[in-house]
Amino acid sequence: MNAVRIAPSILSADFARLADEIAMLEAGGADWVHIDVMDGRFVPNITYGYKVIETVRRLTEMPLDVHLMVVEPERYFEDFIDAGATGLTVHAEAAPHLQRQLAHVRELGAAAGVALNPSTSLTAIENVLDVMDLLLVMTVNPGFGGQQFIPHSLEKLSRARRMLDAAGSRAVLEVDGGINRETIYQCWRAGADCFVAGNAVFSAEDPRAEIGALRAQCAERA
Ligand code: DX5
Ligand code: ZN
Repeated sequence: MNAVRIAPSILSADFARLADEIAMLEAGGADWVHIDVMDGRFVPNITYGYKVIETVRRLTEMPLDVHLMVVEPERYFEDFIDAGATGLTVHAEAAPHLQRQLAHVRELGAAAGVALNPSTSLTAIENVLDVMDLLLVMTVNPGFGGQQFIPHSLEKLSRARRMLDAAGSRAVLEVDGGINRETIYQCWRAGADCFVAGNAVFSAEDPRAEIGALRAQCAERA
C-alpha cells in the first residue's frame, strides 16, 4: 500500500479567501489539493474549470488532483493539464473509451485516474488496470459536498484493494465523499490510501489542525 495522503477538496473553501485557504492547506500538511470540476450535466451542479485550476496552480506547488464530473471529459484534458493539473480522474460512467482516455492523459504527462459512482461495479476497471494510476471509489453520489458517507462502500473498497493487489497495481486507492474522523479510519482499514475531505476540513473549528487529525486516525488506531 502507498503512504496515506490527505486531499482536501476546495469545493468547501471560501473562494473570497482562496489564497489564504490554499496557504492554510499547505501549513496543515495536506498532500494534494482536490479540485471538483462539475458541468451541470454529469452531475446536477456546476463548479469551475480551467481558470480555477490555473489560479490554484499559481498559489501552490502541491499536486492538483482534478476530479472530472463531466460528460465528454476528453474535451478538457489538454487545457486542464496546461493549467497545471497533476492528475485527471474521469468517471467510468462518462467514458465509454476508457482505455484510450487514460492512455491519452498519461501521454499528456498527467496521472490517469478512474472514478466509480457508488452504484458502478468494479468490473468497469478490470480491463484498464495497466493504464490506471488512481482509482477513486465514490462514497457518496457525486455532485455536492457535505453528504453522508454510504456504508456499503467499505465492502467495495476492500474488494478494490484486493483487485489492485492481485494485479500488482501500484495505483492510488482514493475515497471521496463524507470522509470525517470516523469514516477515514474505516476506509483506511478497508485499504484506501488517499482521502478527499471537503466539509470535514473547511467546516472544522481549526481547519489546519483537522488535516493532521484526519491523518492521525490512519496511524494511531492501527
Ligand atoms: C462530491 C465531490 C467531493 C466533495 C466532498 O461530489 O466529488 O470531492 O467535495 O465533500 P465532503 O468531504 O464534504 O463530502
Ligand atoms: Zn471529488
